[in-house]
Amino acid sequence: MNPLIAPSILAADFANLQKEVEMINGSVADFIHLDIMDGVFVPNISFGLPVVEAVNRYAKKPLDVHLMIVEPDKYLEAFHKAGAAQITVHLEACPHLHRTIQAIKAMHCKAGVAINPHTPVRHLQDIIREVDTVLIMSVNPGFGGQEFIGNTYKKIHALSELIVETGSHAKIQIDGGVSLANAKKLFEAGANVLVAGNLVFSSENPKETINKLKFII
Ligand code: DX5
Ligand code: ZN
Repeated sequence: MNPLIAPSILAADFANLQKEVEMINGSVADFIHLDIMDGVFVPNISFGLPVVEAVNRYAKKPLDVHLMIVEPDKYLEAFHKAGAAQITVHLEACPHLHRTIQAIKAMHCKAGVAINPHTPVRHLQDIIREVDTVLIMSVNPGFGGQEFIGNTYKKIHALSELIVETGSHAKIQIDGGVSLANAKKLFEAGANVLVAGNLVFSSENPKETINKLKFII
């Protein structure tokens, strides 16, 4: 099984978003990753619902929406209506995470939980069986193009163990600083889904870069 690839359009050319989405459609990517930042949970603002709706008009791959926002519960339904196939919320932003995850699943949407670099995997112990994906942040969320944090490998191993121990079916998604130099090692450590922003959109041939990531094993 090859890794699933989720190009993040945070690094795309927003003035040519249709073209960028069509590039992803024509590639071997498995998802389109959309990074929603509110300037409160993270120190940056990206884009919101109208952009997700616009991407959804052209997308032929499922939309993987990563909410880096406070009080995500208020917006779950709106993001679902805008086209999200999966919604990932941050554990650090959800005091009632179990309720939030149930609300996502009640809309027949896939549910993901993300953890920041400082959040230990063991904090997922009592939610892991409820989620479809765990997103391990391998940079501090807020910006694309940052350096990968090496401690991520340890977290992938710990998460793989927790998944086996609990009988969870969660996929392990890695987000931030993914490169052609670390993708193989991440996959071998147990990662199932690789998010890639700058790697894809700063490359000369984005489609070929997605291909390389997918078949790097
Ligand atoms: C960071 C976002 C990432 C980001 C990844 O807060 O969650 O999805 O777009 O960008 P790269 O791949 O450039 O590190
Ligand atoms: Zn992301």
